[in-house]
Formats: sequence, structure tokens, C-alpha cells
Amino acid sequence: MRDYAAEFKGKKALITGGSRGIGAATAQRLLDGGATVAVTARSHHAQTPAGAHFITGDISTPTGANAVAAEALHLLGGLDILVNNAGAAAAKLPSIETISDEEWLEALMVNFMSAVRVTNPLLNALRESSSGAIVNVSAGGLLPFPGFLAHYGAAKAALNNYTRSLAKELAPTGVRVNLVTPGAIITPGAGEGRKLLTTALGITAEQLFAATPLRRAGTAEELAETIAFLASTRSSYITGHNQFVTGGYGELS
Ligand SMILES: NC(=O)c1ccc[n+]([C@@H]2O[C@H](COP(=O)([O-])OP(=O)(O)OC[C@H]3O[C@@H](n4cnc5c(N)ncnc54)[C@H](OP(=O)(O)O)[C@@H]3O)[C@@H](O)[C@H]2O)c1
Repeated sequence: MRDYAAEFKGKKALITGGSRGIGAATAQRLLDGGATVAVTARSHHAQTPAGAHFITGDISTPTGANAVAAEALHLLGGLDILVNNAGAAAAKLPSIETISDEEWLEALMVNFMSAVRVTNPLLNALRESSSGAIVNVSAGGLLPFPGFLAHYGAAKAALNNYTRSLAKELAPTGVRVNLVTPGAIITPGAGEGRKLLTTALGITAEQLFAATPLRRAGTAEELAETIAFLASTRSSYITGHNQFVTGGYGELS
């Protein structure tokens, strides 16, 4: 019988955007399973797990991403699990044409290039692990994002494609690479963005959540559980997969 309470014992994990929201819940979940965890973000928040090493950095720039990866290797002395979770949806109302060139690039840097830049310098360490696993956190169901989030949606679509290419390239080395697509999850960052959106649409957050088949928002812990599964050896024969955690949104409606 496996001891799931200690399934991450001896494992070393880096979680980007691990200071709050889904990233913080994931860091706590891996810590609870016995992992040594480093989290990175631009700033420490009240939710940042106390048991994790904290690396301050802005991973939307090449210099910042490289420095974070180097510091993680220095602190952890190797790597088994990488969760590319950092991201931000900056809604630009009312439509696609109001998104500036700079905002398109910013969305791509934060939601896509950050993952590429953090991952590259960590690949050797992951290949050396006996159970290397990468989980990238995406967004969106099967439907396109509305125009005011087109830049965010395009960046996450790039992340999806990149993740599948990476999964294919790394498969012969045993390193698994998967995606998790959250639906409407209650987190500090999503709360700020959602307020803008619901105000503009003249609806409440509850009305927005009621549009999901399960009729509610999800929790950061529900995301963390799925990320932990894909990072663990329980999913040892799964790679290149995009697991929706959306309460059915994007799959059933
Ligand atoms: N919550 C949802 O409903 C939802 C839905 C779909 C997808 N997602 C995705 O899930 C992931 C986590 O979102 P969340 O809702 O947990 O958001 P959140 O509460 O805003 O947390 C985002 C995390 O990313 C960090 N971060 C943002 N920009 C960064 C940068 N340039 N460099 C380093 N760290 C950065 C933030 O810390 P600092 O600000 O201190 O840097 C924070 O730790 C994101 O990729 C998001 O796109 C969330």
C-alpha cells in the first residue's frame, strides 16, 4: 500500500507564482506531501506558505527568469517538479482593438514566455531526476476568450502548444509534461479581474459562477489536488495531457 501522505518525500519542487492563489495552495499541498518546495513571485503575500523557500523575482523578463531558475537550483540542489503557474489576466475593456501593442507583449511575457524562460535552464536537472514532471497552468475552455481577454487567451494558447511540443521532446527522457486548465477559481488575482468584468457586464460574481455546469466556482485547493496528481508518480503514464478543472465549463457548456 502506498503512503500518499508522504508521496513527495525527498522530492524538490519549484512553483512559480507560488506566493498566493493556486500557486500557494499547490506549494502547501506539496509541502504536506513531504516535498522541499521553493516558490517565486515578485512579492511575498499573507498566503505565501511559511514552509517554502521564497525567491523574489519577476519572471516576465529573461534576466528575472534566469535568476529565479539559478536560485532554485542553488537552494534545492536539484529539481523533480516544476509548476509553471505564474500568470495574470489583465482584461482590457471593451474589445480587442483597445488592447495596445505593449499590452499584447506583456500578456505574452507573463503568461507564456515566463514558462519557457524558467523551464529551459531547469531541464537538465529534471532529466537527472528519476521522476521529473512539469505542470503548466493554462486557462480557457474549448471556447475562445471574449475580445477584452484576447491577449491573455492567445498567450495561454501558445503555452498549450509549447507544452505539447515539450512533452513530445522530453518523453524519451522520462520527464512528463502536462497542462492544467482552471475554470473560475476563487483567488486574489482572479477576484480583482473578475470584479472589473462583472461590473462591466452588470452581473454579480455568483451569476457568473452559475454559468458553470457544477453551478459554483472552484477553490485553489481543488486545483492544487489535480496539479499534485500530475506532479506525482500516481500519473506516471500520463504526458502531453490537458486536464480541465473547470466544473465542466468548456467541456459540457
Ligand atoms: N483563478 C482563476 O479563476 C484562473 C482561471 C484560469 C487560469 N488561471 C491561471 O492560474 C494561474 C494562477 O492564477 P491565480 O488565480 O492563482 O492568480 P493570483 O492569485 O493573481 O496569483 C498569481 C501569482 O503569480 C505571481 N506573478 C504574477 N506575475 C508575475 C511575474 N511577472 N513574475 C513572478 N510572479 C508573478 C503572483 O505574485 P506577484 O504578483 O507577487 O508577483 C502570484 O503569486 C495563472 O496562470 C492564471 O492565469 C486562474
